[in-house]
Amino acid sequence: MNNLKVTIDGKSIEVPPGTTILQAARMIGENYPPAMCYYTPLKETGGKCRVCLVKVTQGSEANPRPMPKLVASCLTRVEHGMVIENETSPEVLEARKGVVEFLLINHPLDCPVCDQAGECDLQNLSYKHGTESTRYEEGRREFDKIDLGENIQLHMTRCILCYRCVYTADQLTNKRVHGVINRGDVSEISTYIQNAIDNDFSGNIIDVCPVGALTDKKYRFKQRVWFSKPFYAHRECDKCKGEAVAWVKNNDVIRVTARKNKFGEVLDFICNNCRFEHKNMNDWTIGEPYEMDNDSVITTNKYKVLDHSPAVNVDAKFVSE
Ligand code: SF4
Ligand code: FES
Repeated sequence: MNNLKVTIDGKSIEVPPGTTILQAARMIGENYPPAMCYYTPLKETGGKCRVCLVKVTQGSEANPRPMPKLVASCLTRVEHGMVIENETSPEVLEARKGVVEFLLINHPLDCPVCDQAGECDLQNLSYKHGTESTRYEEGRREFDKIDLGENIQLHMTRCILCYRCVYTADQLTNKRVHGVINRGDVSEISTYIQNAIDNDFSGNIIDVCPVGALTDKKYRFKQRVWFSKPFYAHRECDKCKGEAVAWVKNNDVIRVTARKNKFGEVLDFICNNCRFEHKNMNDWTIGEPYEMDNDSVITTNKYKVLDHSPAVNVDAKFVSE
């Protein structure tokens, strides 16, 4: 079948049939819509958070009428001749503000004391698409923190019900013991009768969680993430590829996570053995500094430009301590 031509914010690209608007926008590579629930490595994700809304001003070449309302770009497939407005549409930007406001209704505004600060997708999203103040005066939902076994802690107040952790448990393991219970504003992530989430790949739910709802109990509050340095790290492992990121502080590995792409999606899920049980520098072959989005607070003051050009940063290395 022929490729389909789609135009997003004035830039055109040809994509294979079945491509969604979000994927096409990511292929163009500039100003793609944000995504808080869609996650490429996990099947059937998307359609939960609505931050990826875009305006379809022309449905297709054959049927050029605009779509009557904004659509979720992670679920809507491209048609030949489709024209889309993302960041060029004031209506889309206004709608996104509203979605961020909704996501923050029950989310505590306590980034300075949250373990996810510095690598929280919701924090980044609200900086880019949110408003400076809140209109919400009602009480927020409150939950006790729950230990999901020895490695993971759930703080439900921070959960935005994106379902990524549920799909991760479903698709990586054969015995998911947690999910979303109840409906509407009483929905919550739960193991129902407070089970431990206990399987070899359970730690990946920490990496896919876009907020600070699921955190690593062995790392939690040990360190602000921007005070450590991430490195590509590898070890021989019989359960996973052993390709991870070692977060190093003063020559100690203080945390191990999976590697992610520039959209914040895990490239290779890692096992709990690599993640939780190998915290010595000698356990790992430590490689280059881990490439990160330069907008991240984690990279602040960590990289220097070797050719002294403010525009070029491809050879950036860690500033030595
Ligand atoms: S705990 Fe995290 S990953 Fe799971 S549904 Fe809530 S926000 Fe999403
Ligand atoms: S990313 Fe599309 S609805 Fe969440």
